[in-house]
Amino acid sequence: MSAPSSHPSSAAPLACVILAAGKGTRMKSALPKVMHKIAGRTLVGHVIAACEGLSPEKIVVVTAPDMDIVAQEVAPHQAVIQTEQNGTADAVKSARKALDGFTGDVLILIGDAPLVTTQTLAALRAAAAPTGLAVLGMEVEDPAGYGRLIEDGQTVAAIVEDRDCTDAQHLIDLCNAGNFCVTGKKLFTWLDRIGTANSQKEYYLTDIVAVAAADGVACGLHVTDEDEATGVNSRAQLAQAEWLMQRRLREAAMDGGVTMVDPETVYLAHDTVIGRDVTIEPNVYFGPGVNIGDNAIIHAFSHLQDVTAGAGVHIGPFARLRDKVVLDEKAQVGNFVEVKKSRFHKGAKAKHLAYIGDATVGEKTNISAGVITVNYDGFDKHHTTIGKNVMVGCDTTLVAPITIGDGADIAAGSAITKDVAPDALAVSRNRAIIREGWAVSYRARKSAAKTAEKAEDQQ
Ligand code: UD1
Ligand code: MG
Repeated sequence: MSAPSSHPSSAAPLACVILAAGKGTRMKSALPKVMHKIAGRTLVGHVIAACEGLSPEKIVVVTAPDMDIVAQEVAPHQAVIQTEQNGTADAVKSARKALDGFTGDVLILIGDAPLVTTQTLAALRAAAAPTGLAVLGMEVEDPAGYGRLIEDGQTVAAIVEDRDCTDAQHLIDLCNAGNFCVTGKKLFTWLDRIGTANSQKEYYLTDIVAVAAADGVACGLHVTDEDEATGVNSRAQLAQAEWLMQRRLREAAMDGGVTMVDPETVYLAHDTVIGRDVTIEPNVYFGPGVNIGDNAIIHAFSHLQDVTAGAGVHIGPFARLRDKVVLDEKAQVGNFVEVKKSRFHKGAKAKHLAYIGDATVGEKTNISAGVITVNYDGFDKHHTTIGKNVMVGCDTTLVAPITIGDGADIAAGSAITKDVAPDALAVSRNRAIIREGWAVSYRARKSAAKTAEKAEDQQ
């Protein structure tokens, strides 16, 4: 064993290398595997977020030549290209230039294991402190497909890939989660000594353990739970990772003071923020970018994405809110209402059957059932500004661009195409015609005709 490092690992500079160049053939997808999403964020995005929690000096992501989409996703972090996908050790070598002269700790992460946490990465780093090398292990129920860790007392002597295991090794359930911490002082020297003597003829990063052992350097081990190390290689595993992430997010929300009537039916995004004493009824979906204030109620079957809501709002049931929606304190958006890129000021309400898009709705204004902001002319979107204390009657269309002044009253059934002054009444519809007694004479005419028809048929 080499001597312990002279300073604690956490004081050494840190770099992270994320491997994301694999073809992901088992996903059967046109999209690179790491671009698939769970909880509204890409797999590689989750891994980057876990790394960022340790404030590394740099994060380098290894991609393939045809994966500009991955480089865009990880920016501003650096993406480097692995020209041919010759295995995980070859992938790390693609970061050689990016890590030139770097002698701190290097965390190497596989881009398809999105559930790893910052705390676990810190523990892996600590496990590498004595010798400059450690692997993240996991005990799994079904080890099929994973590399097996061959232990030697407290340390790991070698890692054998599933395909290359003997019958006895197949029985080992301590597996390689895929992530390593290696000192930058040795990383590339060791990688250069890894060969391709395996069933796939690839350069396996896992062989770094045996190479270091040949130098008398022991590999440290940090074991994490299986859920955190779940790798995504197929659509079924993607669904499993989503399930695990949702469970984690729901538990965190409930720990923070949120009531969920049926947590398993509530879907959260990685960045959902929900205040205290918020109640969420069953079957609610949160896309990315939602922040809900205290004491709100989200009724069943609502779908929210990019929404900032203040305290005490009521949303749903069956409400759809999307794309830069702001609801101030105590605003209400009820059943079958869609709100897009709009702001409701304090206490404003749209409680049934409305479309409010590209609009501002003033304090305490009431939007009645069937109101539509006509925001699109086939080419451009236009804004609707509605003042405070306005009453917009049922089945009204407001053709944007348009401004409705404070305190105005819009009569039901109107199509309003001009601005309305404060406190004005706006009506735009045909006058009702009422003929007294008309229905009586109509019924008499109709029944006489029917009697005559019957008499003709019987002749
Ligand atoms: C890998 C490990 C295995 C471990 C498992 C955990 C190796 C050889 N095997 O197997 O021991 O139990 O992860 O999930 O490391 N990649 C590249 N370039 C390549 C090949 C892969 O960037 O040439 C990337 C992939 O995009 C992926 C990661 O490396 O993010 C792992 O590759 P994958 O093919 O999924 O390896 P596994 O068979 O899962
Ligand atoms: Mg994998």
